[in-house]
Amino acid sequence: MDSDSVVPKTVCVTGAAGFIGSWLVMRLLQRGYTVRAAVRDPDNMKKVEHLLDLPNADTHLTLWKADLTQEGSFDNAINGCIGVFHVATPFNLETKDPENEMIKPTINGLLDIMKACVKARTVRRLVYTSSAGTLSAT
Ligand SMILES: NC(=O)c1ccc[n+]([C@@H]2O[C@H](COP(=O)([O-])OP(=O)(O)OC[C@H]3O[C@@H](n4cnc5c(N)ncnc54)[C@H](OP(=O)(O)O)[C@@H]3O)[C@@H](O)[C@H]2O)c1
Repeated sequence: MDSDSVVPKTVCVTGAAGFIGSWLVMRLLQRGYTVRAAVRDPDNMKKVEHLLDLPNADTHLTLWKADLTQEGSFDNAINGCIGVFHVATPFNLETKDPENEMIKPTINGLLDIMKACVKARTVRRLVYTSSAGTLSAT
């Protein structure tokens, strides 16, 4: 899809295949938004099938490949959106290296998404959920 075209009521949801993300996508589709669902692996049907099956998904949902650990990878998905819901999170309570596996990707990924919003010049609102992961930074 051409990310340069601005479609009214187009929003991006990061972590769209996750628990919160999936609910958000469903509600946004119900309300008539065009949703760009950012996921790490759009071809993994086990992870994305439930999104594709949602009402209105066939006309109002597209999948976009993006990863918090790859700088600039959300740029295309965000360009042309009026809003971004950032709920993707690298969360693994079992990790032996929370600094590199959780904290850095969370912070750098958010900064990268904020930069993508500024670059896009179309984004009016960025919504970011608080995360239980913040506890590991204390
Ligand atoms: N669940 C709750 O009740 C609740 C309550 C309050 C706050 N929150 C917060 O809301 C956020 C989302 O929670 P959730 O329950 O929806 O979590 P979740 O089901 O684990 O979903 C998280 C999503 O983040 C994506 N992700 C992980 N690492 C990534 C990376 N490096 N790059 C891009 N995407 C990545 C995963 O994508 P893939 O599909 O590609 O694996 C996954 O779909 C978290 O910050 C959580 O702490 C959740």
